Amino acid sequence: MQTYPSLFICPICGKPLLRMESSYRCWGGHSFDIAAAGYTHLLPVNKMNSKNPGDDKAMVAARTAFLDAGYYRPLRDALCRAALACCTDPEQNYTLFDCGCGEGYYTAGIAEALHRAGLTFRMGGIDISKHALRKAAKRLPDAEFAVASAYDLPMSDGCIDLLFNVFSPMAREEFLRVLCPGGHLIYVVPSARHLWDMKALLYKTPYENEADRKDYEGFVHEQTIEVRETICLQGSDHIMALFGMTPYAHKTPKAGIEHLQSLDTLDTAIGFDVHIYRKA
Ligand SMILES: C[S@@+](CC[C@H](N)C(=O)[O-])C[C@H]1O[C@@H](n2cnc3c(N)ncnc32)[C@H](O)[C@@H]1O
Ligand SMILES: [Zn+2]
Repeated sequence: MQTYPSLFICPICGKPLLRMESSYRCWGGHSFDIAAAGYTHLLPVNKMNSKNPGDDKAMVAARTAFLDAGYYRPLRDALCRAALACCTDPEQNYTLFDCGCGEGYYTAGIAEALHRAGLTFRMGGIDISKHALRKAAKRLPDAEFAVASAYDLPMSDGCIDLLFNVFSPMAREEFLRVLCPGGHLIYVVPSARHLWDMKALLYKTPYENEADRKDYEGFVHEQTIEVRETICLQGSDHIMALFGMTPYAHKTPKAGIEHLQSLDTLDTAIGFDVHIYRKA
């Protein structure tokens, strides 16, 4: 049977994990099954706040359909450019990690770009939602995916060269711990006028997002790639899927939602800031 050292460590005793065909095992005798879809579960039961944490099946399906339609392709392309700017040594075997990877749309795009550039790397991802990981593991069967928390990563100190955080919780201390000296963090945040036209339909007085770049202790800011586009949403399913991915889904008055539901098309500005930080 083929086994190989995992990117992950045992969440119980902290020893390295070996990946076998259908499970992970540590030297301390702990074992973790790999689900048929290809991900594993490394979040200890006593650290789970609910039985099914994170986004549910319906939310994941809506997001997958929206992303696969290509509306956020410009962000995926920018992330690929950022990854290639950080991985410049053809002799190095890079370790990449997507924290809060969701259903792996960006993870898969980045892996494809590095493959195309002829670079050697391995890729891992965690998310709190097993429904999201099911899709991620299907998109990228060669990568390792685990249910885990960003605030308690099942990874040893200094093992990551490049860490992605795309609209997911910022766990500064854990990111610093797992990144190698000089490793990079790529952190995506919405720009001030992201989804401006959608917001203008939902609210009488839309406000710009707070988008000032923050400094994070232990990191040096290197570069920001700005992505600014207008997308033309086609069909109510895509409009409502995008709405469902936003924080407005929980705080919009009923009239605003009904207005949005009545539309067949919607043109809206999108904007993202892809910040590249280096571990100091
Ligand atoms: C807005 S989604 C972004 C997903 C993906 N990065 C993307 O852009 O398609 C946020 C993700 O963070 C995950 N998440 C939330 N809290 C988390 C935590 N404490 N640890 C790990 N993942 C978490 C959610 O399950 C969800 O998949
Ligand atoms: Zn163990």
